[in-house]
Amino acid sequence: MTDQKTPATEGKDRVLIFDTTLRDGEQSPGATMTHAEKLEIAELLDDMGVDIIEAGFPIASEGDFRAVSEIAKRSKNAVICGLARAQFPDIDRCWEAVRHAERPRIHTFIGTSPLHRAIPNLTMDQMAERIEQTVTHARNLCDNVQWSPMDATRTEWDYLCRVVEIAIKAGATTINIPDTVGYTAPVESADLIRRLIETVPGADAVIFATHCHNDLGMATANALAAVAGGARQIECTINGLGERAGNTALEEVVMALRVRGDIMPFYTQVDTKKIMHISRRVATVSGFPVQFNKAIVGKNAFAHESGIHQDGMLKNKETFEIMRPEDVGLSGTSLPLGKHSGRAALRAKLKDLGVEVGDNQLKDIFVRFKELADRKKEVFDDDILALVTATADGEDRLQLVNLRVVCGTGGPATAELEMEIDGKEVSATCQGDGPVDATFKAVRMLHPNSARLQLYQVHAVTEGTDAQATVSVRLEEDGMIATGQSADTDTVVASARAYVNALNRLLIRRGKTGKDVKEISYKDVG
Ligand code: KIV
Ligand code: ZN
Repeated sequence: MTDQKTPATEGKDRVLIFDTTLRDGEQSPGATMTHAEKLEIAELLDDMGVDIIEAGFPIASEGDFRAVSEIAKRSKNAVICGLARAQFPDIDRCWEAVRHAERPRIHTFIGTSPLHRAIPNLTMDQMAERIEQTVTHARNLCDNVQWSPMDATRTEWDYLCRVVEIAIKAGATTINIPDTVGYTAPVESADLIRRLIETVPGADAVIFATHCHNDLGMATANALAAVAGGARQIECTINGLGERAGNTALEEVVMALRVRGDIMPFYTQVDTKKIMHISRRVATVSGFPVQFNKAIVGKNAFAHESGIHQDGMLKNKETFEIMRPEDVGLSGTSLPLGKHSGRAALRAKLKDLGVEVGDNQLKDIFVRFKELADRKKEVFDDDILALVTATADGEDRLQLVNLRVVCGTGGPATAELEMEIDGKEVSATCQGDGPVDATFKAVRMLHPNSARLQLYQVHAVTEGTDAQATVSVRLEEDGMIATGQSADTDTVVASARAYVNALNRLLIRRGKTGKDVKEISYKDVG
């Protein structure tokens, strides 16, 4: 293992990291984030050294516009980018939002493959003209313009060269080549970028970017291959969040370039020690848990269970480890807290886990921590992180106040539920087929809705019968999807909170699709 402490940059080319967790990631069904959550994630991305943050799609809704503007105002180092279709009103709205940033960027796109050209029903010439006009318009507003031919990997070669040349001439400073449907393969990905750079006049004056989706599980490989072919910007998301199978995962490309600098002479300026924390926060706020065996950030990524592996690890860590857990922000120790631990110990532990909370949130977490420590002998790091998730719902219209459930073998379960809805206390008693069914019915009685339960999943956070359960609930209503999560040692309480959390997110999502967003088909944007 080479020394990862200070990876050498000498003789290596810099690769820019463009994070689109807040746009492509947030756009994936069920991954809605609140305004405050978006600001928090943007701040974490900026702090970790991401070069460009795609903060949203300003014309999509008032909420997106507000988030992009606020992120632009607060940004410290990163370029703040907004997405816009190839239409003047989209581009104007995008500029209105990003212009507050120290370093703004407009990203405009249009689908150029035969299938995508058919949607606006434009001929090749008409589309070429539209590209020329819209990129020129964007460039008149902002000197940093990114242009993307959506579905580039299925666009005819000659036409792709033609439109890329037009965009460069019209003033685009970055040309992004999206593999919108995750169709390409590494050899082809490298070749496409290399040939574009060799063929298109003016290509050497702009930066080529790669934007890969993971439908065939090749997004990371395709992005790295594109870099080998000459791309110098990788578009990616934390945990690989994104439409369908997701996007290239930021943590994978960043760590791959760092660990295999010997064969890939490139570097990024991402502080890899911040990876774990942002991964956990994105998993929490998006409601998309990270799979246990996910590269870099999965719970098992650095766990060595089998006897042979453990023996090898004890003798020499390099036997089975190509990276150090500390390099991605995992602290080697996991000292549990107990019921005698005080607020200062909790604050120190949170800091250690990379979680910054305000005094009020610390107060709430401490109350939940004490309750938990009374019921559970040892409170582990993962328990604490689950508590942070469970207490971070400040903007919610629906709040669970109290729940009492009676159940057994001899009949239906009964749930007595108290909630606060828009500040008003209400209560209901319902029977159901088991405690969770009775509880969900009581929630529906107090907040009637037609949301369909798409997924109900329970995980134990740590080991033992007193472990906290993390429950994920995914709901669908009128084509809108939202996921909620919560944790508690009582699975029914965690289920109720997760259900209420998902309903709150559906309310946000509904607010987001106001009248100005009706015409936007998110399906058109991969
Ligand atoms: O996947 C895609 O093509 C996109 C574009 C909007 C860049 O997300
Ligand atoms: Zn995409």
